[in-house]
Amino acid sequence: MFLDKSKNEFKNDVLLGLSDPIQKSIPSKYLYDAVGSELFERITVQPEYYLTRTEIKILDIHANELIKDIPKEIILIELGSGSSKKTKFLFTEIMKKQNQLYYFPIDISFDFLNSVVTNLQKSFSNVIVKGIPDDYINGINHCNNILFENNVEIKSVCRLIIFLGSSIGNFEIGDARNFLKDIRLQIKNGDYLLIGFDLEKDVPLLESAYNDNEGVTSMFNLNLLNRINKELGGNFSIDNFSHHSFYNKDKKRIEMHILSNKKQQVFISSLNKQFYFEKNEAIHTENSYKYSLDDIEGIIKRAGFSMEKEFSDENNWYKLALLKPK
Ligand code: TRP
Repeated sequence: MFLDKSKNEFKNDVLLGLSDPIQKSIPSKYLYDAVGSELFERITVQPEYYLTRTEIKILDIHANELIKDIPKEIILIELGSGSSKKTKFLFTEIMKKQNQLYYFPIDISFDFLNSVVTNLQKSFSNVIVKGIPDDYINGINHCNNILFENNVEIKSVCRLIIFLGSSIGNFEIGDARNFLKDIRLQIKNGDYLLIGFDLEKDVPLLESAYNDNEGVTSMFNLNLLNRINKELGGNFSIDNFSHHSFYNKDKKRIEMHILSNKKQQVFISSLNKQFYFEKNEAIHTENSYKYSLDDIEGIIKRAGFSMEKEFSDENNWYKLALLKPK
């Protein structure tokens, strides 16, 4: 039933996105099936992809400072947890303050989440891991229910919500603000939100991060077509398409596209429909917005938060912001 529902959604989104006469697009959430999530993990260790290692370094150096003034028992909720690799730096620090920890990783990649949860549970015996396969806002609600069922009083704990990896950058600016407002509505005074923002920087640095030499980002992007072939009966020849990422200066974002190498047509059997591509016609698959310090201050304020603490790396490439309700 559930699988049918998500398959239908995929079908509809692909139909809508590929039928747009002005700009074909496919929502970026479909990049993250099991294969896509694995590929994304490989992106995060590419030498050009500075984001993950910079964020990990900031977390590693500042984890103590980050949580040392939080008096209550911390409940950790991670939005878009992926491999939960970075979260381990917080586990260690939090476990110095309390002897058990509830950790709720929320992710839409169901299979991937399952295997991550199983592994975490094995390696951290004092961490109670409850994986939540849902979107973010529903997921937070779900956590509250689980805490309630386990007799944990929301008002006597601190919910630390973390949203790392510059995932905020994958939202349109207005959507990012509304998303933060939605989170604001879910939390109370004494709770915190930790967000990772990727900062504006020289264009070559940005562009090489999204065009790694090994071609992993390219595989990640083109995997969308494989997925349409497998799940919707498409007949895309992957060799006839290529990965294209570039920095759009006006919009302050990296854009990721799939380009058609030639004039061609593709049939998707579950839609019973033929789609036409011109040579170099693009399917827009993802954006990654880069923030200035002023942008960060603006969005935080307008969403009803204030900056509690902030941390950066020595190059000022990346910013971790610990926010509290205003
Ligand atoms: N949150 C990641 C980012 O914005 C997602 C990502 C990884 C991505 N590789 C990408 C987005 C390539 C667009 C293109 O960096």
